[in-house]
Amino acid sequence: MPKNASKKPVDRETTVVLMNEKKWYKPSKKAKNEATVKHWKTAHEYATENPMRFWEEAACDLKWYRKWKVTHAEKKKHFHQWFLGGKTNVVLNALDRHMGTPTENKVAIIWESDSGESRKITYKELDIEVCKMANGLRGLGVKKGDRVAIYLQNTPEIAISMLACAKIGAMHSVVYAGFSAHALRDRIDDAEAKLLITSDVGYRSGKTIDMYSLCAEAVKGAKSIKKMVIVKREKSTKKQNKTRDIWFHELQKGQSEDCNTEMMDAEDPLFVLYTSGTTSKPKGVVHVHGGYQVGVNRTLKWVMDLKEDDIYWCSADPGWITGHSYIIYGPLMAGVTTVMFEGAPNYPKPDRLWKLVQKHKVTIFYTAPTLIRALMRFGDEWVTKHDLSSLRLLGSVGEPINPEAWRWYHRVVGKKKLPIMDTWWQTETGMFMITPLPSMPLKAGSATLPFPGIEADVVDKKGQPVKVGEGGYLVIKSPWPSMIRTIFNNPKRFIKTYWKEIPGYYLTGDLAHKDKDGYFWIQGRSDDVLSIAGHRIGNAEIESAIVSHPDAAEAAVIGKPHPIKGESAKAFVILKKGVKGNDKLIKKLKKQIRKMLGPIAVTDEIDFVTKLPKTRSGKIMRRVLKAQELGQKLGDTSALAD
Ligand code: WT7
Repeated sequence: MPKNASKKPVDRETTVVLMNEKKWYKPSKKAKNEATVKHWKTAHEYATENPMRFWEEAACDLKWYRKWKVTHAEKKKHFHQWFLGGKTNVVLNALDRHMGTPTENKVAIIWESDSGESRKITYKELDIEVCKMANGLRGLGVKKGDRVAIYLQNTPEIAISMLACAKIGAMHSVVYAGFSAHALRDRIDDAEAKLLITSDVGYRSGKTIDMYSLCAEAVKGAKSIKKMVIVKREKSTKKQNKTRDIWFHELQKGQSEDCNTEMMDAEDPLFVLYTSGTTSKPKGVVHVHGGYQVGVNRTLKWVMDLKEDDIYWCSADPGWITGHSYIIYGPLMAGVTTVMFEGAPNYPKPDRLWKLVQKHKVTIFYTAPTLIRALMRFGDEWVTKHDLSSLRLLGSVGEPINPEAWRWYHRVVGKKKLPIMDTWWQTETGMFMITPLPSMPLKAGSATLPFPGIEADVVDKKGQPVKVGEGGYLVIKSPWPSMIRTIFNNPKRFIKTYWKEIPGYYLTGDLAHKDKDGYFWIQGRSDDVLSIAGHRIGNAEIESAIVSHPDAAEAAVIGKPHPIKGESAKAFVILKKGVKGNDKLIKKLKKQIRKMLGPIAVTDEIDFVTKLPKTRSGKIMRRVLKAQELGQKLGDTSALAD
């Protein structure tokens, strides 16, 4: 742990909240009639009455090799298990069960590349690709329980790779393809991945990105990595390391189109996905085959209201949990068509998304507030010149959506008719947790109520519910099927992070308040984790990247409100003796952050200082810096040393 990492995730007093939108947005008759759950109150009451029965019924929507014996058990304190004794595999439901049914000829994936070509893959074709890849991986010695790192952009090959791993019982560890070689290496080492799957290049906004060199640098000397599998996207690319590198297509070549799906225990791990916490070391969040499927399947079908013919598009990246649950596994389990888009929303022009909605007749569109805010700025006509009449439902995720952006999304994209599902959840929760159902009345900026079967609340430090309108810590009070099982190789940190601060409850790390109607309003993180354009980055991670530069002695990073990104990072840096702070050094430090973590973590501002506010025990008080920066009241400063 770096010297200035905060030990205690909860160190902010609860605050009184002023913002409160009063206007109700009622669902149209049409939306209500079409909704899978027409009577949301009844659904909530039914689940609350007997949550276990609710989740058992949700599990019965899926196919199992063998039915479970025990629905839920807390094997060891805080280590919850679901559907014990059940045998399954997420691929059984995402692919196998569609074979031999009319779904096999349906388009599973519509892929749109950066440059504008599209590729359609049916369920049958996807199954064949996955089988060939799975056989290829087995041929390379990948076994049940092994970890496979994946560093790919939003392309069909990322879905094929993830499904192939799951099929043979290997855990995938997808690393967002915007992370640096250094960050990728950290994750490879932590997971002890045997294999890395990547591509020679990637494309974004018309630019070619050299993925191969980045990956080659990342695996240099990595003990665990045996092979690198490379998707060939450029004809001219040559293999560079003959013993280590294999082309993706060559690995698939000659492989059988059949491959048995590994029968997994419900509690066998499906994947590890790294996310930021309050120390500089990312946490490997572990999800399992059984409960994860149940949670994702039920939430997606009910919240996004999936119907057989839906063309569903979640504009996130598969490198994050949103992509895992709701681009790949969820839609495929539901047997709908899922859209994967490699490009950027403003390339070649700011109407790219809306053009795609029209082109592919998208019916459900799920995106992030940062994107909505960015596109809002370009003006309505970029949206209105396209025919968006295929749309029937909208979604939002990643950070609080400010009422202004909500209303724009509702008015301009949704033509004042479409429900907006503002879904609050986390990498750790695996599925939507606080979210509307399409038949519910909405308020602009509120994620509304906990999903049926979920017990959430806003409490003070002692775990007591706070008053209406008062801010507090968002907690989940009882277990749910797709909950995080542990932190990879670090069960102690798992307990400490999520279960120790407010005993008895799962601590989300978010601040929230409830209004008089019981609706939840998420206010942002309570711990030292930033949300930059919906990307979760630990303050400590950036600080540690800065002090890895030889000129920096100490650093403190805070988040500042940003009109588009939601939050931007600012660093305060103490330099080593004799080093002069100037623009050139600012550039160097930014470069260092980019090298250690990637472009998403680069701070907007860097100030050089000679002192940082600290507690008597030497811990940097970031909230003091933040209050000063934003001209706010300091609050309790009794811990401040100086
Ligand atoms: C954090 C989780 C869940 C997928 C994307 C991010 C924030 C997420 C919302 C929302 C307000 C939200 C929270 C949460 N967050 N969705 N609808 N309203 N805040 O996953 O990287 O694990 O980040 O994102 O702060 O704790 P993640």
